[in-house]
This record gives sequence, C-alpha cells and structure tokens, in this order.
Amino acid sequence: MSATYVQVAHLLPDLDPTDKAALPAQVASFYSRAIEDGRVLVGERLPPIREVATCCKVTRATVQEAYRRLADLGLVAGTVGRGTIVLASATAASDPSHRLLSPYAEAALRRTRAMKGAPLLSENQELVANFAELAPDESFFPVDEWREAMDAVLRTRGRELLGYGHSTFGLQELRELLVVRSHDSDPELSADNLLVTAGAQQALDLVLRTVCSPGDTVVVTTPSYHHMHGLLSAHGLQVVQVPFGPDGLDHAQLSRVLARPSVRLCYLMPTFHNPTGRSLNLEQRKQLVQALADTDVAVVEDEYQHSLRCRGDALPTLRSLDARGLTVTVSTVSKDLFPALRIGWVAGSDHLLQPMAAVKRFMDLETSPLLQAALVEFMRRGCFDNHLSSLLAELRLRHKALQAACAQHLPEGCRVTDPDGGFVAWLEMPNSGHAGLGQGEQLADLAAERGVRVVPGRAFDLDGAASRGVRLCLTRTNVDQIHHGVRVLGECARELLEVHAPAQTFL
Ligand SMILES: Cc1ncc(COP(=O)(O)O)c(C=O)c1O
Repeated sequence: MSATYVQVAHLLPDLDPTDKAALPAQVASFYSRAIEDGRVLVGERLPPIREVATCCKVTRATVQEAYRRLADLGLVAGTVGRGTIVLASATAASDPSHRLLSPYAEAALRRTRAMKGAPLLSENQELVANFAELAPDESFFPVDEWREAMDAVLRTRGRELLGYGHSTFGLQELRELLVVRSHDSDPELSADNLLVTAGAQQALDLVLRTVCSPGDTVVVTTPSYHHMHGLLSAHGLQVVQVPFGPDGLDHAQLSRVLARPSVRLCYLMPTFHNPTGRSLNLEQRKQLVQALADTDVAVVEDEYQHSLRCRGDALPTLRSLDARGLTVTVSTVSKDLFPALRIGWVAGSDHLLQPMAAVKRFMDLETSPLLQAALVEFMRRGCFDNHLSSLLAELRLRHKALQAACAQHLPEGCRVTDPDGGFVAWLEMPNSGHAGLGQGEQLADLAAERGVRVVPGRAFDLDGAASRGVRLCLTRTNVDQIHHGVRVLGECARELLEVHAPAQTFL
C-alpha cells in the first residue's frame, strides 16, 4: 500500500497494572479493537514501542510481545525504520469482498456490526419496561394534525412544493420560526445563521466534512452518543475521550488534550447529555468556553433535545458564549415531534455555515421543501406548541416517577441522575473499585432476563470500556412501567451487589 503513513501518537491503552501476567494481552487487545473499529486505519502506524512503554509504565518487552501477537494475527507488520504498520483488519483479512472498500467504509461497517445495544428479552419473557429505546413513543405522534398541515400546503402550493426548492439553506419561513424557538438559549441567532439539514445526524456529518480531515483528532466525552462514534470512524478521525461526570467535563484532562496539535474539534452535549441526561450549568459552560478561548479548536454542541426542558430556565448555548465564532449548534425535531421528518439544523457563523451549505449542496441539494413547508404550516397552526406542551407534561410525570421509584427500590450506593429535561437518565452501580466495573453490563443482562430492557454503559464508550452505568430512556415507559421496571432493576442490583460483596473474614 502506497499511502502516507499517519502516526497514531496518542492512541494509548489504559492498562490494569495489577494484572501483570495479562499486560501484553491487554495491549494487544486494545490495538486489535482500535484496528477493528477503525480508529487506526490500514496504512497507519501504531505508536512506537518506546512511547507506549513509557506512557503506560510497562516494559518495552511487554509492548513488543503485544505487537508480535498482532503480527501473528496478520493485523500489523513491523518494518525497521518505519515502525509497526496496520495491514488489515481481521474482517478484511478473511473476506475478499472487503478489498473493494475504502478504509472508511470498512470502519463504518465494522462499527455497525460491533454495535451492541440493550440485551433482548428471551422469547417467553414478558416485557415489564422498555428503558432501551430513545426513539419517541409513536402513540404521541400528532398524525391527524400533521395530515391536515400537509393537505393544506399541498392544496395551496402543491405544484411549487413538489419541485426542487430554491435554497440549500432551507425555507426562509422555517429558519425564522426555528430562530424564534431558539431565542431563550441563543438570543443573537438570526435566520441567516441557520442551515436546515436532514436531521441532526446530517448536521453532525456536515460539520465533520467541513472542519476535519482524515487523521485529525476529535474530542468527545465518555460516555457519549454512540452513533457519533460510528460517524467519526467513517471519516477516518482519531478520537480522544474526556470523562464527563457529575461535575461536568474533567477540565485538567481537557486542557491536556486541547494542547495536542492534531485536535480540530470537540463534540459536546451541554444540555440533557446522551446517555447521562446531565446538563452543564452556566458556570461550567463559561469555564468550558474559557478553556477553549486560546485555541483554534472548533466545537459542535448537540442540542438534540433542547426544547424538552421540564424545569429551570434555558441556559445559553456554547455558541452564544464563544466569542471566537468557532462553535456551531446542531438541533432537530426528531425527539420533540417525530423523527421521520428528518429535519434538523445547524447554526453557526457565516464563515462555517457557507462552506457547510456548499458541502450539503453537493451531497443532497437540499432538505425536502415539501416537508419543510408542512412543518411551517404545522407550527403556524399552533400544533407544534400544543404537542410539545402535552409531551412535556407527560415527561415531567415520568421523571418524577423515576426519581420516586429509584428512591424506593434501589439499594444503597446506586445513583441515578435527575435531569432537568430530555428523555434520558443514567443509573450507576456503587463504586466498589475494580470489581464494580462492568456491573452496568451485568445489570442489563440480568434485568433483560426479568423483562426490563436498559442499554449498558459500555455501548457509549468508544472502546467499549467496562462501565458501572446503564442508560434509562423514558420515551417508551409510562409511569406504571417505570415503577415496575425500577423495582426489577433494584432487585437485580441488590443481587449483583451480594455476589460481589467482600468475603467475610473471621478473626
Ligand atoms: C445525541 C443525539 N444527536 C443526534 C441524534 C440524531 O438525531 P436526528 O434524528 O435528528 O438525526 C440523536 C438521535 O438519537 C442523538 O441522540
């Protein structure tokens, strides 16, 4: 392969040093996963043995042994003077049809195949509660009101709306209405700073196409939205994860990461973060913007549930706080209306928005003018506001039920986030050191055997790292199901904690 080799200088494993015998296996499995899921692409180099040994505080012989194992599997080849180069993923090595694919398509394919959501229920198991899916509950879809809005625009402007539209940026009337809806969190936003996209997912893709080149590094939180992981792989980007906990982002780690020259972009969810439901408060937002102030690292903030606030005032977007003009905000109607519309948007300064529109133009020309016009009509009739207020009323009840059920049923030490809105919350098993890691997955498996579906936390880590947490979605569970579901989760958590309790010692 004649490609220029990109050095993956910062892709280093996080090892468990207490398990000395398994260190070469840990290093080998980390890099084999990185190759498999596309974080290291064919033709790129693994970090030098010396660097891995120093940074991970292990001997060079440990890393040499790990690289030898990868070579034995046909995944890499060591070449004097050029380092250890990735030859193929295991999938590609065993399947000739993969030779047709670009490394990026291969990476996306591998991520799709490797994606693991909530464990399924066994055939005879009755569903008690489904906390797994973030897809909105279809029983709430305003089908009749939507049909009437669609009828009205077809009747009055049918011929025009069945043709191509006139602007890649989207219908002016829709952009103006979306600006009004964003006013409380971004008062300076104007319709000229907004590009309508095919859902938030296309907006995220456009940002990556516009700001990043293959091999660049993107900072994400861990845990984070798992479909973003796949998108980053499909763009051939390196990813660095920064922990996102009860106090927000780990700022010391973020500052170290931002100093790396390859970092181009941060992907953040300051409001109702997926999967934890946490939001950054005003102070944390300001600190974050301050940490970025002296860098030229762009930010994409994903405000995918921005209108689903159940309590408290709206907080300013990072975009509105970033004086550099390097932050863009992505949003969507998928969660507060319905996802089949595939309407989202990205807001940003002209110098980022114009190139994004140019890229979109050559991707899909424009987002459906018919659906945009129907959405405008739907909003003007007040149907969106009516729908949203009944959705929010129900969401408030569900959050309240979740907190009450958790207080009643979860064993001591288990914690659940108490989000100010949005559909997701995060339940964490007690921190019992290394033994507690992985309990999120055990909880998800055990709960599925008893009719409750939750997504284990490792699904939201790029490396699938063990996690104590599980994501709970409130989209498809009513108040009753929440009570029954949390009771089952509490029983499962208690059993797991008993199994892992330290053995009694008799003196
Ligand atoms: C955090 C986040 N961003 C973006 C999306 C994609 O939204 P859309 O349906 O508008 O493409 C989702 C969907 O679940 C999401 O959870």
